[in-house]
Amino acid sequence: MVTIRKYRKSEAGQVALLIADSYMKFNLADVGHDRRRAMLGPLALADSTRREDQDALARAIAAPSVWVAECDGEIVGVLRGGRTDRRGRTVLSSLFVAEQHHRQGIGRALVERFEQEYAARDVTVFSVAATLYAVPLYLSLGYKKTTNVRMTRSFGVPGLPYQPMKKVLESVEPVA
Ligand SMILES: CC(C)(COP(=O)(O)OP(=O)(O)OC[C@H]1O[C@@H](n2cnc3c(N)ncnc32)[C@H](O)[C@@H]1OP(=O)(O)O)[C@@H](O)C(=O)NCCC(=O)NCCS
Repeated sequence: MVTIRKYRKSEAGQVALLIADSYMKFNLADVGHDRRRAMLGPLALADSTRREDQDALARAIAAPSVWVAECDGEIVGVLRGGRTDRRGRTVLSSLFVAEQHHRQGIGRALVERFEQEYAARDVTVFSVAATLYAVPLYLSLGYKKTTNVRMTRSFGVPGLPYQPMKKVLESVEPVA
């Protein structure tokens, strides 16, 4: 059974391994070895047990809101988000699900939990810089493309394509 719950800082190593593995396979597969390593930033050291590397990983994962999906005691998904962009939209910063758990509804469950958290604080507009791989997921959840595909940096290294998307929650009229 999969449980969606808040991330604990002590889980930084486990979460970093999940992100690094998924990011390499699904988002940086076409990038050469050295460049890929640079684009991973501190995540390239996800399997390091050195204290300073673990601290760097924890800083890279930190966000106003971090949710994880846990299955049989293992973290199989993570969503980071919650900062506000310059247009006042609440940002979904990143989402990763372990490959062997794809297409089981975990990505959807993480996004819905995140949206619920912020809807309860009266947030109605969300944005995401979607990887090209994740566009079908966000479309299925009601996100719309706002521009053409653009390029951004990954940990300071240019060359990562992304699709800007946003979602406006339908307002729910209070029951009289
Ligand atoms: C994108 C990602 C998070 C989706 O997670 P997931 O748990 O597999 O997604 P879900 O099972 O909740 O999918 C919900 C719906 O989204 C759509 N969808 C998800 N992945 C899809 C894919 N690879 N191709 C087509 N549609 C897809 C489908 O409509 C799916 O519903 P269905 O399975 O009933 O057809 C996962 O593939 C992943 O980690 N990718 C690599 C990292 C990445 O690109 N992250 C995005 C960063 S912004």
